[in-house]
Amino acid sequence: MLLSADALGALLAEGGVVAFTGAGISTESGIPDFRSAGGVWTRHDPKLFTFSRYVRSPEVRVRAWAMRREFWSVQPRPNAGHLALARLEATGLVDGVVTQNIDGLHQAAGSRRVVELHGTSRDVLCVGTAPRAGTPDGCGFRAPTSWAFDRVDAGEADPACPGCGGILKAATVSFGQNLFPGVLEEATARLAAARTVRAVGSTLKVQPAAGLPAAAARRGARLGIVNNEATPLDPLATLVVRGTAGSILSAAAAAAV
Ligand code: APR
Repeated sequence: MLLSADALGALLAEGGVVAFTGAGISTESGIPDFRSAGGVWTRHDPKLFTFSRYVRSPEVRVRAWAMRREFWSVQPRPNAGHLALARLEATGLVDGVVTQNIDGLHQAAGSRRVVELHGTSRDVLCVGTAPRAGTPDGCGFRAPTSWAFDRVDAGEADPACPGCGGILKAATVSFGQNLFPGVLEEATARLAAARTVRAVGSTLKVQPAAGLPAAAARRGARLGIVNNEATPLDPLATLVVRGTAGSILSAAAAAAV
């Protein structure tokens, strides 16, 4: 049922909430989402962005480094939605965030308990010279992405690992890549302990991520969905608030605290 931010605030005030976020919470920071009008996958073919293509093709890697460089030149900042969740975590009403996003904006807003299901674009790591299908098994080298951009800006279109000469990749999970060890288990444990799961800014279609709020709702947790369009999990939700995440989360936080 469609309800207001105040109803969401009342649910928040009872505590025991874990937020589950998707790309829609970051669009107000200037980062496009994936599947709504103008989203990344409406302009680029996701099949071109698989782990195996990245590992196999230097041309794909050169293009990926150029795209990452362009994205990072924007320097996105947390918006009202990220800040509201960080404020609610500081008051103890929200026990952290499980996010599908790789932009690091929850941490930049002050959230401390963040599980990044799909990794982070803020670091790069070595995936080795010939990783097994979907498994980044490099030498262990990892550095801030800014380090890699210094190499790209110095003319290395596809910088190699300084430790073993292997392939460097953003510390994100691409299509066809396994989630990093332990992350799904940590996210599952967080949502299993929640009285309320609040899904924000996600089409809730991509597995295994979308299975987490669905499983929580099926075991009896209350599912609140904040999204500007319908999602497949709306029928499982205790309440659905349709609209823009930043204003809804700010109003709900004000009503709860
Ligand atoms: N407020 C509320 N909802 C919004 C806003 C906003 N400001 N902006 C966008 N939305 C909604 C969109 O309408 C859409 O329903 O957020 C949803 C974003 O959905 P997707 O673009 O599919 O993003 P997400 O659900 O995070 O995708 C999951 O797919 O490609 C992979 O790894 C990628 O993590 C990503 C995963």
